Formats: sequence, C-alpha cells, structure tokens
Amino acid sequence: MSQKILLSGVKPTGSAHIGNYFGAMKQMVDLQNTGNYSCLIMIADYHALNFIQNKDEMKKLTFELALDYLAVGLDPKKIVIFKQSDISAHTELAWIFDTIVTVPYLERAHAFKDAEVKDKEINVGTFNYPVLMAADILLYNTDVVPVGQDQKQHIEYARDIALKFNHIFGPKNVAEYEDLIFKLPEPLILENVAVVPGVDGRKMSKSYGNTIPLFATREEITKAVMSIVTDSGKPEDGGKPMNVYNIHKLFKSEEKLRELYDMNKGKYKALKDALVEDIDAFIKPMRERRAELVKKPKKVMKILEKGAKQAGKIADKKLVEVKQAIGVL
Ligand code: AMP
Ligand code: TRP
Repeated sequence: MSQKILLSGVKPTGSAHIGNYFGAMKQMVDLQNTGNYSCLIMIADYHALNFIQNKDEMKKLTFELALDYLAVGLDPKKIVIFKQSDISAHTELAWIFDTIVTVPYLERAHAFKDAEVKDKEINVGTFNYPVLMAADILLYNTDVVPVGQDQKQHIEYARDIALKFNHIFGPKNVAEYEDLIFKLPEPLILENVAVVPGVDGRKMSKSYGNTIPLFATREEITKAVMSIVTDSGKPEDGGKPMNVYNIHKLFKSEEKLRELYDMNKGKYKALKDALVEDIDAFIKPMRERRAELVKKPKKVMKILEKGAKQAGKIADKKLVEVKQAIGVL
C-alpha cells in the first residue's frame, strides 16, 4: 500500500505547551511511527511573522521549535522537517490563491473575527492567514493534517480553495480524482484531546497565560499545577475537581485515576501533588533530550537545511504544474 501524505505545522511564537503536544505534536509522532505516512512537518515562520516582528526573537523561537520537534520524538531520518520560509513556493502559491479567494469569504474566518474584535487595524497577513495555510497544505498533495480543534476551519478553507482552483483551472471533464490539480486534505483531530484545558479551565493557550509548558522544570510544573483553579467538585462529577482531573487524564488512564480520586475526595493538595508527579515523570525524558539537543545547534540547523531541500523538490514541482494550469508558463 502506498503511503499517505501527512503535513502539519506549528507557529514559532513561544514556548510549546502541553495543549500543543496532546492536540497536535503527539499525533505527528505517533503517525510517523506507524510507517504508514510520508510526513512533512513545518515550522510556520511566515505565519508567526504576524506576531513576532523582531529579528532576534524570530531566530530564537524558530530554533526552539526545531528543538521541540526533535525532543518530542520527530525523527529527521524518517520524515521531513522544514521551515516554511525556506520554500518560496508557499508564498507564491498563496498569491495565486489570493486571486480566486473573495474578501467576504475570508471575513468569515473565526481567527479573523476574533482578531478584529481586539484590534480594527488588523494586518493583511492576519486576514490572509488561511490562504497561506492552504498553500502550505495543498503544495504537497497532503492527505491528512493532524491539528487541534482550533485549526479545523483552516483545513476547510484549504479544501474549499482546492475545489475552487480545480474547478477554474483544472482539466475539464475529468473522471479521475487523480487528474485534478489539488487533492482535498482531511483534518485529523482526536476528540479527547481536541481542546486541552489550561490551568483556569479555558482552552490552554499562550495568549491566555494559562499554560503548562511542555518542557517545564519540576518547579515550573509545580507552580502551574498549584495555580489550577479548583472547583469544589460537583456531585455529578463524583466530587472530582474537574480542572485538575481533566489535565490529569492526559497523563494517566481514567481507570487508574478513579482509585486515586476516590481515595482523595476533597483533598485537593494531595491530588495536585500526584498530578505534579505524573506530569514530571512524563516530561522528564523529553526535557532531557531537549537539553542535549540545545548543545548542538549546528546539527539542528543541518536538519532544517536538509528538510528544505526535500520539501523544496516536491513544492517546486507542484508549482510548475500550477503555473502551467494558470497559463503563466
Ligand atoms: P499554535 O501554537 O497555535 O501554533 O498551535 C499549534 C498546534 O497545537 C495546532 O494544531 C493547535 O490546534 C494545537 N493546539 C494549540 N492549543 C491547543 C489546545 N489547548 N488543545 C488542543 N490543541 C491545541
Ligand atoms: N495555523 C497553524 C496553527 O496556528 C499552523 C500552521 C501553519 C499549520 N500552516 C499549517 C498547521 C499547515 C497545519 C498545516 O497552529
């Protein structure tokens, strides 16, 4: 059976947290390890440019995300890890898509609407975000995109844009799906981790300041866990403090947790201590791997250079096909 193509990415905008891990990165590693997917994992630095407009910070955050990818177990011997800005086909294709995507259609994007509520002076890059993301995905004939729930609409945009492009520029009267220019990607969102909650019970997010960092030290884990807002445990939840429990179940099976939570009804400190223990045990090996990698920046940069060559070959070939289809080549 031929391998399916998997593509995903994360923006280098700050420290990765356990929401990023369980929502997206873990799926990337698990699927890589099945051997059933040809995986392309991207550092979405041009998307991050909407938020990070400082050269040193951009360099630092990009390097850190590369470290994160490697430390969670993405393996450059098995997959392609690359930086979006290294492949100019992404921005070039985004422009081509811009000419067929309408303004009202982009105005319906959740991310745009949220950003506009905060600041009317929204930049064009934020408005166009889904178009660049569609280019990221469609350039590689991607079959699946593992992401958290908040990215679902972006994958729908990619599908819509693929359909519209195929309709306008694709071969007419095609019977075969394979003859079309762009393949329609599917999101891969695991229900139980689609939205990982933060220490305040809302979605874990860098912008809410409610995260547990993925490579946190024991002290940082303790600080974050102790700040979890403890509800008094409603009878319908079996008296469990749900903000603690919902994070805990990411690290231990609900079967094992039942006993712990039954034995410690009302003892929030004991439950939080147990959670610190479980998170620390889980994070420790990744934290140690990352600490080793940070000493080898050249090795990390080489991985990205190699990734750029591999991804570039695929993307450039697709772009030629697209340019022929629109009549500029
Ligand atoms: P970002 O940090 O926004 O670039 O997100 C990177 C990936 O992590 C995306 O696939 C998001 O959907 C996912 N993600 C971010 N926060 C969460 C969360 N709280 N729960 C589940 N997935 C998340
Ligand atoms: N928008 C994604 C996020 O915020 C990051 C991203 C950019 C991405 N391009 C992508 C994810 C392509 C999947 C596929 O998390």
